[in-house]
Amino acid sequence: MTKDSFNFIYGDTIGAARAALDPGAFGYYSGGALEQVTMSESAESWKRFRFVPKIPETRGDTSTDVEFAGMELPNPVFISPMACQSLLRVEAESGMAQAAALVNVGYALSTRTSVPIPKVAEAYYDTSAVERLRSQLPLWHQAALEQLGRSGADRRWLPMFQVYQMEDSSISDALVQEAKECGFAAVLLTIDTPTIGIRLNDRRESFSLPDTYPEVVYERMGKGLDGSTEGKSSLFQPRGRINSLSQDKTVGMTAVSHLVGVGGLPVVVKGVSRASDLRAAMEHGAAGGLFSTHGGRQLDRIRSTADSLFAELESSCDPSVAADGGVRTGTDVLTAMCLGASAVGIGRFAAWAFAAGGPVGLACYLIEVLTELRLSLLLIGVDSADELDRTMLDRPGDR
Ligand SMILES: Cc1cc2nc3c(=O)[nH]c(=O)nc-3n(C[C@H](O)[C@H](O)[C@H](O)COP(=O)(O)O)c2cc1C
Repeated sequence: MTKDSFNFIYGDTIGAARAALDPGAFGYYSGGALEQVTMSESAESWKRFRFVPKIPETRGDTSTDVEFAGMELPNPVFISPMACQSLLRVEAESGMAQAAALVNVGYALSTRTSVPIPKVAEAYYDTSAVERLRSQLPLWHQAALEQLGRSGADRRWLPMFQVYQMEDSSISDALVQEAKECGFAAVLLTIDTPTIGIRLNDRRESFSLPDTYPEVVYERMGKGLDGSTEGKSSLFQPRGRINSLSQDKTVGMTAVSHLVGVGGLPVVVKGVSRASDLRAAMEHGAAGGLFSTHGGRQLDRIRSTADSLFAELESSCDPSVAADGGVRTGTDVLTAMCLGASAVGIGRFAAWAFAAGGPVGLACYLIEVLTELRLSLLLIGVDSADELDRTMLDRPGDR
């Protein structure tokens, strides 16, 4: 496929997003840590693999159904948590969540959300708004969505909540409780961010995140879990507020067991690079691990997710494994599944589609990804994801 025909299908979403965004916001979303070695390699590293299809006995209807972290899901795709989506579009987290709900992919809400948790949940579960969105899709995408809905109709992705353990863990605990009350189905505990990576784009643009996130937390903690304001006063002081909202530098396996006890939701550890860490997290009660480099925004020159899956895992579509980093197309998703993931997160490419085309643009992009995944499963020679195995993938460059 030439670059032009690729762009015909996906559109030059990055260019359109850049044109739509303020330079500071574009720099924040598009940037990685330091020299951006990991970030630049991430997308390329999926493309180093080649499929080795098999000829099946019979070909039936392909199903993208998977199981991940104890959840029965209609497909493996979810939108990775990204901070402050009001920088992308006025519809912000609510608009992204609605597009995800329409296409029935997962949506992970960042702790650093710009919209309060209950409002995002309300948008996600607002079926008439979601149906209105369907009616705004171009006809081809409406038809494609209808096709996708036929299999897995009895399975539904529910939103997930990403949490940073805070220095004052009563704050992160309260947010998890709130997410649970609002119908979130799982928690992603980000373990790769004891501190924020060095991001030169932000320095260049003198960019810092708007104050929406402390406001969201303030609103929650101001009320308190029991509705009272007693004992919450330090949060109302600017200094106290900032200190208590700092991420806990000691975050590790103890935080996993702690969080398992907090909300009773499945906990997925986000930011894993080694199988041994995944096993340790599961021994501490986690339901799964998300192999991730945080989009190359934390430690630069960290091994790409594709390379970690290749080096660390043996089976395909493992129900305890998710992955993200540089994923753009349905064939990237299929590669990640062959390498071990049963759930695959998309970060920036979802953000670009959303910035460029709003909830409709994002929904169209997600429909393209799922349609391509469905066709790719058929072409690789399986009826369903659980038939994928490692012999279906090769990395010719290694020989
Ligand atoms: C602008 C931006 C903000 C992010 N914010 C968060 C966050 O708040 N919490 C988190 O766990 N990960 C965050 N991430 C990392 C993503 O969840 C995900 O791991 C990464 O974006 C995947 O790589 P990709 O963007 O190449 O798809 C962020 C990533 C970006 C690009």
